[in-house]
Amino acid sequence: MVTPMSNTIELKYATRSVPRYTSYPTAPHFGDDVDATVYAGWLAALPASAPVSLYLHVPYCRAICHYCGCHTKAALKDEPVIDYAEGLVAEIDLVRAAIGRRLPVGHVHWGGGTPSLLPVPSFEAVVAKLREAFDFRPGAEHAMELDPRTVTPELAVALAKAGVTRASLGVQDFDATVQQAIGRIQPIETVAAAVAMLREAGIAAINFDLMYGLPHQSAATIRRTVELAHEFAPSRIALFGYAHVPWFKKHQRLIDEAALPGATERIALERTARDVLAEFGYEPIGLDHFALPQDDMAKAAKSGDLHRNFQGYTTDACATLIGFGASSIGQSAAGFAQNDPDIGRWRRAVEAGRLPIAKGKALDDDDRLRAAIIERIMCDYAVDLDAVCAEHGTDAGAVADAFARLEEPARDGLVTIDGHRLTVTDLGRPLVRIVAAAFDVYLARTAARHSVAV
Ligand SMILES: C[S@@+](CC[C@H](N)C(=O)[O-])C[C@H]1O[C@@H](n2cnc3c(N)ncnc32)[C@H](O)[C@@H]1O
Ligand code: SF4
Repeated sequence: MVTPMSNTIELKYATRSVPRYTSYPTAPHFGDDVDATVYAGWLAALPASAPVSLYLHVPYCRAICHYCGCHTKAALKDEPVIDYAEGLVAEIDLVRAAIGRRLPVGHVHWGGGTPSLLPVPSFEAVVAKLREAFDFRPGAEHAMELDPRTVTPELAVALAKAGVTRASLGVQDFDATVQQAIGRIQPIETVAAAVAMLREAGIAAINFDLMYGLPHQSAATIRRTVELAHEFAPSRIALFGYAHVPWFKKHQRLIDEAALPGATERIALERTARDVLAEFGYEPIGLDHFALPQDDMAKAAKSGDLHRNFQGYTTDACATLIGFGASSIGQSAAGFAQNDPDIGRWRRAVEAGRLPIAKGKALDDDDRLRAAIIERIMCDYAVDLDAVCAEHGTDAGAVADAFARLEEPARDGLVTIDGHRLTVTDLGRPLVRIVAAAFDVYLARTAARHSVAV
């Protein structure tokens, strides 16, 4: 039940510019002091026995959806995608040489763009190279983001054979008017066929991405979309708020702004979707995820083992993430390193035998402490500062500055402070980023623009 009070508070904060905290420090604070040489040093120093995670970015789609905020471009033909896969193979060799040994792998994630656009032989060549360079642990999770419109029986079988265990499908909205307005015509039959092919091939774990805040959405349409999604029984559903940033993503100008819901409507759309998901037994996880109780993510959320990285919420507990492909970001205890986002430059660097790093951020002890606190707030809606600070060899005095920034959210009822324990209230949950931001010492120093808080 939405009370006028909660709406007023949410509206007060809804338009504040705060990061989504998929990292801390956030990407606008990366600089070119982290280059290929620095990154090579980090790779060489990785511990030999701790499993790492791998992220592969494929920045191609058949066509660009009007709303898309991802780093991707249109490829009408297969040639650029095949060439890109050859670049990935070369990059894996380079990274393997820099590490100097064959590290164990606990988690692989293909994101994009549309990794399912890779022709089967290209996909198989990249996986073969990964398995040569890394030691895939038995039971490693291997996930891929797929556009349902690109799934074929051959691809589904190839994914399963290569060890893919989880498929994440971009669904967004089932309503025909909304689909027209967002430039993504995707009849429900297409989604049904993709799910059937993947399950038939043996890929049992299915995620759906849904969105709220799209043009022409109403409580009735989003309710129907969630009801239809539920009929496929995906074990996880991500519900993303549409980030409208046409000054940054020019193709979003194709979205009719007059048809976009306003701040109040966005809150109502999210609530409706959330309520319907709860009716169907999905447990809310963090800001934007929902999972059936038997799903690993629901279990991780309950046991305090949920994590957050560049892909959003994850069950991946590996401390090191190695990124491949244009724009991908890797992270380790030493810091973040981002590959060149320009596909041509990335490809030429790899071709020339150079690690294609464009920028990054070396971390100090304060960054690591604040990152850990922010991760717990984003994942658990609570944090015991004494415990986290002790793990980092310090005490809560190290983050004393945050308490002044927490005063206003505490007064507004977003967070309760009991000594050094913070708990985000039910009212504060949709605004958890505001509470996390209290620990962000970079935020005040930047004019970087972020999407709105709800
Ligand atoms: C890489 S895509 C998923 C795979 C595939 N490309 C597809 O769309 O089917 C990642 C997801 O990001 C979400 N997304 C894309 N643009 C967004 C935006 N501007 N705001 C919020 N979420 C967005 C969509 O839900 C999309 O499914
Ligand atoms: S939403 Fe997915 S398919 Fe559409 S343009 Fe973005 S990455 Fe490509």
